[in-house]
Amino acid sequence: MKIGIDKLGFFTPDLYVDMTELAHARNEDPNKYLIGIGQEKMAVIPPTQDVVTMAANAAKTILTDKDKEQIDLVIFATESGIDNSKASAVYLARLLGLNADIRAIELKQACYGATAGIQLAQEHVALFPEHKVLVIGADIARYGLRTPGEPTQGGGAVAVLIGADPKMLALDRKSAYYTRDIMDFWRPLGKTEAMVDGKYSSNIYLEFLEHVWTSYTQKTGLKIKDFDAVLFHLPYTKMGLKGLRQLIADADPVSAVRLAQEFEHARKFNRLVGNLYTGSLYLSLLSLLQNSEQLSAGARIGLFSYGSGAEAEFYAGVLQASFKEGLMGMDYEQVLQQRRKVSVAEYEELFNKQLYNTETKLLDYHADAASFVLAGVKGYQRQYLEH
Ligand code: COA
Repeated sequence: MKIGIDKLGFFTPDLYVDMTELAHARNEDPNKYLIGIGQEKMAVIPPTQDVVTMAANAAKTILTDKDKEQIDLVIFATESGIDNSKASAVYLARLLGLNADIRAIELKQACYGATAGIQLAQEHVALFPEHKVLVIGADIARYGLRTPGEPTQGGGAVAVLIGADPKMLALDRKSAYYTRDIMDFWRPLGKTEAMVDGKYSSNIYLEFLEHVWTSYTQKTGLKIKDFDAVLFHLPYTKMGLKGLRQLIADADPVSAVRLAQEFEHARKFNRLVGNLYTGSLYLSLLSLLQNSEQLSAGARIGLFSYGSGAEAEFYAGVLQASFKEGLMGMDYEQVLQQRRKVSVAEYEELFNKQLYNTETKLLDYHADAASFVLAGVKGYQRQYLEH
């Protein structure tokens, strides 16, 4: 039985800041951000959006009533959760109108979380093929204003529906994974911005890639020439480019050119959104599937997932004939083009307006065009609604 990704949905708020303008405001050469980091636009998250609303907005683009009936497990991967006890998945299940006879949990391991969710979901579907699992990767990447990490911020949510006989990507059973206790990126309780040793983190990313790729080839016998595309976790798109260069260093020229071309399709949307932490790899998958003109049924796609702290996995899947249908007719190029540019000053104001540890505050959500919004907090309870 084939098990894998049946549908893929994405949401990011309709605001962005231009990286050239941000570079000027920070006295940096714009090419540092555009080429050196590989980012062109960065999603700006208004206070009326958080991981729950973004996840609901992403899931809404893909779920039919039949899907909702079949879902009996919701795995919400995030490292920007809104509560230390209650799972974001419980709010989400209610907003989406899912059955009450489900499991709904939150899962965390930095940017690796959604991959862990997808792997666990496959095991669930293997036991219960008539059921589907909704896996969410939703985050707001925050390093702080005027920090080195600032140009690698962003945010959004990816919704991944896992099921039997999937429309999009049938996942291979064998994968290679690796975990070591590393302090490259973390966020202590109570802190709203991540702590990061960026250069160290980049080196560890590449070291883990080397490790899981070697282990993967030993387990499966597959080689780089067997892949039509390889996707990378993209905290910023230059990081994936470094990973790709490492992977194709000894590849034959035909494979190297093919993988480099597909990588450009795969990073297109990430360049325009920025980092969504655990959803980034899956936004890259969506970007590849929407933008590539070469890929067709039977293509093998490799996925390298990395989460600081640190954990990595390399796995793969085979593209299915109806893979375009899994995007449910969404044109994400257009969605991203229709966003409104905010000035650097407006971005800074919105950055400081996020609701954290607030007891009571009502928000004016009418300017937020998304279906699901955060209307405020009352007595520390977040007020979500669909409008
Ligand atoms: N034109 C083209 N490239 C330029 C440039 C210019 N004018 N100026 C600088 N660059 C290049 C640098 O050579 C460097 O490239 P390299 O990485 O290939 O060497 C790149 O731009 C970044 O410059 P650098 O001086 O290293 O930037 P920085 O010290 O400000 O930090 C990060 C960059 C990515 C380390 C920082 O943004 C960060 O820590 N981000 C958090 C990312 C992270 O760790 N996420 C979690 C891991 S998954």
